[in-house]
Amino acid sequence: MFRRLQHCHNVEDLRLLAKQRLPGPIFHYIDGAADDEVTYRRNTSAFEDCDLVPNVLAGVEEVDMSVEVLGQRLAMPLFCSPTALQRLFHKDGERAVARAAEKFGTYFGVSALGTVSLAEIGDMISTPKMFQFYFHKDRGLNDAMVERAQAAGFDALALTVDTITGGNRERDLYTGFTSPPRLTLKSLLSFAMHPGWARDYFFGEAFELAELKDFVSKGSNVAVSVGDYFAEMLDQSMDWSDAEALRAKWGGPFCLKGIMSVSDARKAVDIGADAIMVSNHGGRQLDGSRSPFDQIAEIADAVGHHIDIICDGGIRRGSHVLKALAAGAKACSGGRLYLYALAAAGQPGVEKALGNLRAEIERDMKLMGVTRLDQLNRDMLRYRQ
Ligand code: LAC
Repeated sequence: MFRRLQHCHNVEDLRLLAKQRLPGPIFHYIDGAADDEVTYRRNTSAFEDCDLVPNVLAGVEEVDMSVEVLGQRLAMPLFCSPTALQRLFHKDGERAVARAAEKFGTYFGVSALGTVSLAEIGDMISTPKMFQFYFHKDRGLNDAMVERAQAAGFDALALTVDTITGGNRERDLYTGFTSPPRLTLKSLLSFAMHPGWARDYFFGEAFELAELKDFVSKGSNVAVSVGDYFAEMLDQSMDWSDAEALRAKWGGPFCLKGIMSVSDARKAVDIGADAIMVSNHGGRQLDGSRSPFDQIAEIADAVGHHIDIICDGGIRRGSHVLKALAAGAKACSGGRLYLYALAAAGQPGVEKALGNLRAEIERDMKLMGVTRLDQLNRDMLRYRQ
């Protein structure tokens, strides 16, 4: 069935549209996860093991879904997590996501493995911007990235802590996905079958990793898998003192992306982090990891008064956002939920994705009998056995 953007009513519709438009190896890079992808599926199904208990007759004609996270007021409690390689998925890449996030007044996360420079994004949008930092062995690169994010006026820095080595993404092994794509007979056939994507990629602006290209050839002009990149380029000796030193060097709102345990959440508070993204990297790293949603309540009980808790991963519906907030998260974030849309249709696609989710959050707040997000609480949740 040929799908059109206006008929995409949810993330799954946009996923199927992306699948039509992208060559197989690129679609499966976005869609895939580690090992048996149990954690990837669990990230969403965890929400289905918890039911909402609504209240009624609450006078809900006006709802306020704004929230303050990492010192910034967001117009909605869901934002675009940083994700890599966006111009590989659509020619407008980060530019499309930045402009869509700006329209919705929410955070736009830019990856160190991004394909548009921090300087350009900084000039482009005035709404909140987060830079996702990967701790490389190359200290010169690390310093340069912090300085560039500062110069570009980024509002927050998120240190990725769950990619200490590469996850085992078997779909990428089967398809041979690398960045930039390696030209083999099989991949050329796949590109030929997706001429819209191939025209943009081969005849459009050259693909590059904007912040890395001056420092590393890997991933920029040498075809390499993302797992290999993490394993070879990132510093596996990274520890809490490095995280604390990075926070001090950055000097602004600081987040750890990829915290899952209560003990690490406490350490994040100890080193002065302002937020944690409770995340397992979309199930792309440790398969068998618990889902972010399942960890929110215990983390919120331990540190919820000291740090902003962001539930990252598995969100496909507005009701998922409300469940995470009722459990104790301040806000939610996601990658695939807007990446499929980017691949499917560029900026209008991302706007459609965010618009669908915003409408669901508003409708579900009304149906839950709440007019503000801080009215959501644990009494409204029941976990199935
Ligand atoms: C991933 C990285 C790049 O592929 O975030 O998961």
